[in-house]
Amino acid sequence: MAASEQPAESAGRWPARLHVVTGKGGTGKTSVAAALALGLAAGGRRTLLVEVEGRQGIAQLFGTDPFPYEERHLADAPGGGEVRALAVDAEEALLEYLDMFYKLGAAGRALRKLGAIDFATTIAPGLRDVLLTGKVKEATTRTSGSRRAYDAVVLDAPPTGRIGRFLNVTAETARLAKVGPIKTQSEGVSALLRSPMTAVHVVTLLEEMPVQETLDAVAELTQLGFPVGRVVVNGVRPPVPAGRAVTAAELKRGLAAAGLPADGPTVAGLVEEARDQQVRRELEDSLRADLVDLGLPLVELPLLPEGVDRAGLETLAQTLVRAD
Ligand SMILES: Nc1ncnc2c1ncn2[C@@H]1O[C@H](COP(=O)(O)OP(=O)(O)O)[C@@H](O)[C@H]1O
Ligand SMILES: [Mg+2]
Repeated sequence: MAASEQPAESAGRWPARLHVVTGKGGTGKTSVAAALALGLAAGGRRTLLVEVEGRQGIAQLFGTDPFPYEERHLADAPGGGEVRALAVDAEEALLEYLDMFYKLGAAGRALRKLGAIDFATTIAPGLRDVLLTGKVKEATTRTSGSRRAYDAVVLDAPPTGRIGRFLNVTAETARLAKVGPIKTQSEGVSALLRSPMTAVHVVTLLEEMPVQETLDAVAELTQLGFPVGRVVVNGVRPPVPAGRAVTAAELKRGLAAAGLPADGPTVAGLVEEARDQQVRRELEDSLRADLVDLGLPLVELPLLPEGVDRAGLETLAQTLVRAD
């Protein structure tokens, strides 16, 4: 059965075709993007996981060799699906782009040797992002025969601090370039990124800085007209039971009843531990409430004690696509 004909349970919950994953650096952007690509591929679909920052984060996560500028098989998903991966390189994208419009061939290779591409992207820094997003659009809308090449494309995007500018660069370029292929391409990318085909998801932890950056990013993205999808709360620890703090006397009795040492330092240490947990719980509750106030669907992913290995990724993938 063609991948695009397969009704997937996840499709209704993640309706976009291009999923842009941002978040404060270190919150798990790459892990969440990979898990989403895996989750959306389950049951016979095909997805593409794209990175644009030249970090080879996907290769690191999957323990593979660095990816060339070429779509490659990354992983099989449960039920026969496939995740492919692409590390988009601005220079390669520029050559591909010039070749498409000007049939450069060998001249393109010469350009590369001359460092002309470094030069071009240095004098027009926005050009780099136009090329990167242009490649993402191409993969998202590509068809082969009558079916789409990918059911979904997941972009491990720049962090929250840069996401607005990164996505908006095409609108800027479309405005500045008066005519020509750059204008046409920029307009096309800008339209896709603002259409219901796209969703920008923001990954956060229940910590002050990432939550603040999430609130700022959602405001900025909304103002720029990009459809914000979900807030993904990553690294969620099991809840600490609510309630009043335990007293030292109660702890002492409890320890003694269990036949455990109940000396002064042990009890004091436990009292402090309990107080810290209570403080953490209150902070997390208040941060979660700030996120809920955004009015966006929230998905919570557990803190994996073993880290994000292949089994961990699978857990995250299933939690994501099962989320309401
Ligand atoms: N849910 C999780 N549980 C445990 N460790 C996680 C989780 N998500 C991410 N990590 C770990 O946190 C670190 C940062 O994750 P990564 O996906 O590389 O973040 P980013 O791309 O935002 O910098 C990595 O070491 C990763 O294994
Ligand atoms: Mg990363």
